[in-house]
Amino acid sequence: LVPTLEDVAQAPSLASLSAEAMDCRACSLWQPANRTVFGEGAENTPLMFVGEQPGDQEDLAGRPFVGPAGQVFDRALEEAGILRDHVYVTNAVKHFRFTWRNNRRLHQKPDMESVDACRIWLDAERRLVHPKLIVMLGVTAAQSLLKRPVTISRERSRVFQLDEQCSGLVTVHPSYLLRLPNEEAKAREYARFVEDLRLAHSFIT
Ligand code: URA
Repeated sequence: LVPTLEDVAQAPSLASLSAEAMDCRACSLWQPANRTVFGEGAENTPLMFVGEQPGDQEDLAGRPFVGPAGQVFDRALEEAGILRDHVYVTNAVKHFRFTWRNNRRLHQKPDMESVDACRIWLDAERRLVHPKLIVMLGVTAAQSLLKRPVTISRERSRVFQLDEQCSGLVTVHPSYLLRLPNEEAKAREYARFVEDLRLAHSFIT
């Protein structure tokens, strides 16, 4: 089932959009994954976060950012004074891409074909949430929204105009913080991440 642009464009609410997305076959990722993991949160909220794609735990739970990266994200949101219930959280790609190794499902970065195919959902989420600011968590989110190659280190931490209605802010993906090799780097980069979230928060208050 490949959703038509009309189906997606006409969905009157996030609930109906999410229901449409459950059967999406617009790229091949639906087949090995358990389910579509759609965005969640408030409709009509000023702040929207976009990650890369659901991970193992998200694919099992059916909710975005509930695994290890989600825990870092939740902690940083809280430190920045942002209530997760008051924002909208989604991913550039709505299915988990993985490879099997030793009976474990290992994350694989989604390819551009999936990012492009999934953009209809992200565009529709933007239309229904109409945020004032979209925070792009990592390179996949940034490339999906900006439609060009992005270097996070060069573009992070500043608010810019994304379109007529909405601003954008690029920052790191929380899973990057988990992969850092030592505690000092982790603490430093985590603090920078919280600063980026504070900037997002100050922009919408
Ligand atoms: N990483 C993401 O980008 N999104 C999730 O939902 C979980 C992990």
